[in-house]
Amino acid sequence: MKKYQDHYFLKAKQENYPARSVYKLKEIQKRFKLFKPGLRVLDLGAAPGSWSLGAAEMIGPAGKVLGLDLKAVSTAFPPNVTCLQGNIYDPSPEFKAELQKHAPFHIVMSDMAPSTTGSRSTDQARSAALIEEALSLARTCLRPGGHFIVKFFMGPDIQAFAQALRQDFASVKAFKPNSSRSESFESFYIAMGFKSLPPHDPGPT
Ligand SMILES: C[S@@+](CC[C@H](N)C(=O)[O-])C[C@H]1O[C@@H](n2cnc3c(N)ncnc32)[C@H](O)[C@@H]1O
Repeated sequence: MKKYQDHYFLKAKQENYPARSVYKLKEIQKRFKLFKPGLRVLDLGAAPGSWSLGAAEMIGPAGKVLGLDLKAVSTAFPPNVTCLQGNIYDPSPEFKAELQKHAPFHIVMSDMAPSTTGSRSTDQARSAALIEEALSLARTCLRPGGHFIVKFFMGPDIQAFAQALRQDFASVKAFKPNSSRSESFESFYIAMGFKSLPPHDPGPT
């Protein structure tokens, strides 16, 4: 059996998820219990659609999932999932309109990952840029008290990123799900309780 056809790969096939990654989200939910019926969720790096599908099950028909990915997604979703093709660095007018329609979100989640090059430092740098971009977007569209789930590649700048998360969220935990391959240098931050940004201070008059 090829290495990538592991327990979770086969389970995903049996349970009709497009990728094994859904079990990472399920483990996050089991540990942190963030998803509840009726919540609105933004899914960054949504293709092929396992997290969007998993989140849709957890939030039920009264909730909403808005997904974005560079790749088109062909998964059959329930009606409360909208998945758009696009680049987080260059959001389309359609994506901006959907964001505006559904914000503020209760949860922003990013499973985005760059195409790997074989150079660990290049992959880390690209992942670091993606998580910064995801955090910038989360800051603009999370509701106060909302949560941010983000995949990162272990690297030299990650402590500074964790520090930035701690400024914006009441609690920040690192979490490596069992279903994340042990040889993978990915892990997740679960940042909970978004602190709403202070009102603009016009400064001394
Ligand atoms: C590990 S996959 C996500 C799997 C997905 N969470 C699921 O469960 O089906 C990472 C995704 O990040 C996407 N991605 C990478 N860079 C991106 C960018 N600049 N904008 C949007 N999506 C991006 C990739 O196209 C890829 O589909």
